[in-house]
Amino acid sequence: MAERTDGFDVRHRSRALVEGRDRAAARAMLRAIGMTDEDFQRPLIGVAHSWIETMPCNLGLRKLAQAVKKGIREAGGVPMEVNTIAISDGVTMGTEGMKASLVSREVVADSIELAASAHMFDAIVILAACDKTLPGSAMALTRLDIPGFVLYGGSILPGHYRGRDITIQNVFEAIGANAAGRLSDEELLEIERAACPGVGTCGGQFTANTMATAIEVLGLSPVGMASVPQPDPRKEEVAYRAGQLVMDQLRRGLRPSDILTRQSFLNGIAVATATGGSTNIVLHFLAMAREAGIELTIDDFNEVSERTPVIADLVPSGRYTAVDVYHAGGIQVIAKRLIEGGKIDGSQLTPTGRTLAEEVADAAETPGQDVILSVDRPKQPTGGLVILRGNLAPEGCVIKTSGTKIAHHRGPARVFDCEEDAMAAVTGRQIRPGDVVVIRYEGPRGGPGMREMLGVTAAIVGEGLGDSVALITDGRFSGATRGLMVGHVAPEAAVGGPIAALREGDVVAIDIPGKRIDAELPNEELARRLADWQPPEPNYTSGAFAKYAALVASASEGAVTRPPK
Ligand code: FES
Repeated sequence: MAERTDGFDVRHRSRALVEGRDRAAARAMLRAIGMTDEDFQRPLIGVAHSWIETMPCNLGLRKLAQAVKKGIREAGGVPMEVNTIAISDGVTMGTEGMKASLVSREVVADSIELAASAHMFDAIVILAACDKTLPGSAMALTRLDIPGFVLYGGSILPGHYRGRDITIQNVFEAIGANAAGRLSDEELLEIERAACPGVGTCGGQFTANTMATAIEVLGLSPVGMASVPQPDPRKEEVAYRAGQLVMDQLRRGLRPSDILTRQSFLNGIAVATATGGSTNIVLHFLAMAREAGIELTIDDFNEVSERTPVIADLVPSGRYTAVDVYHAGGIQVIAKRLIEGGKIDGSQLTPTGRTLAEEVADAAETPGQDVILSVDRPKQPTGGLVILRGNLAPEGCVIKTSGTKIAHHRGPARVFDCEEDAMAAVTGRQIRPGDVVVIRYEGPRGGPGMREMLGVTAAIVGEGLGDSVALITDGRFSGATRGLMVGHVAPEAAVGGPIAALREGDVVAIDIPGKRIDAELPNEELARRLADWQPPEPNYTSGAFAKYAALVASASEGAVTRPPK
């Protein structure tokens, strides 16, 4: 146990806000929101969340926050609720609005950091759902370095369509199948109506569930809490316990910097790859490690992935949803299997002060379940993520191998300078088997914001081209993407990366076992084209997008924003 014995002051920050004659004005205002003389003797605990009405993912968070606050109050703290934003990738996918998604990760982190530091919270619980709020919350927590954790809102339940479970991924692929004439308009509408039956995050091992799984194993979420689906009545009990737990963590004085190590990050990457998780973990873990001051590089993902088998049979590359993981015993069973198999290190700490191994020791597996497999009999012998390099991506790019059975691909480049043009070509039946669809100027700076290409990738799969067409982009992919899809190509086109030099018909070769991606062009030709390259006009010259484009780093560094040099 990591008990503190040095008498940690549970009001280590809020004393400066509410104690003494000079703070009378602050107390006067805080009385107006209901605080009492007694409350001024208690620690102030932030309850931050990304409730927003624009999507199902975060819709239950305000209600859950009330249960967290109750737990805090009954454990002797004063809860203070603050709100941040969220952007739904699923809703905005394929539109200009999707450019706001990755940008919002920084806004979520910045806004929670600012509210919590300005109002001097002694500890914090951050409720998050959806893709960017999870890493954004973890980044804020790490920057604040006060006792606290991220509480995942939880997955949606699966939809049911003609006797089988479906998720939002099925809708995206149905659009492609409809465009190809393989699915009727009525069936598409039926799938659309059935896919999302209530509140919660997208139901496969897409980015939100991948990040929630990884953050729980990393040590920034209490073990056993993330798996509980958002609509499940037990989620409110979990939220109440979270309120009590943060008070316990505060009394111990246990901060993120006491928990996070390079090994804990490697554990988080391992569980993500072991579940066939989203490529977006590469961006987000690089960014989170940077906030924690822990060295982590894009090559660490290869190293971990090579020694970690895929042991969960989850959508998008497998059969089951996040709710099935919960019914099989939860993320804790996956972690237990990986610890027993020597794939992650169980000695790392969690928010209770107990080690990961201690927390999962009693994980109860549902007899007969086949969602979570074993290290000895995995779904796939090595992990789902591979970093490729080559003359097209000197700084690296990422492919999810659990999403494809193809190891090599070689074909003519079909070059598009934005997602919309590529989508029009795919749905217009202009893409042929063997092609390599290239979508560029969609990188961190170019888009800006690295749009996810799920609309295009799902349309390719939906048209039956998933096994014969590759796609490469300096943008990103949704966790729901499957097929031979290479993202995060760095350096990006907007800064003159080699992907900017590609021309229609150039042959591109992808070699997954060799971890290579190359244009079959002489080096001199590539260099000559890049010497003639001119940067395009920026898509935005003012506002949040322009600020972001000015500050954002390469995808190979997590697309973090940083002060100009
Ligand atoms: Fe929110 Fe998928 S759009 S989790």
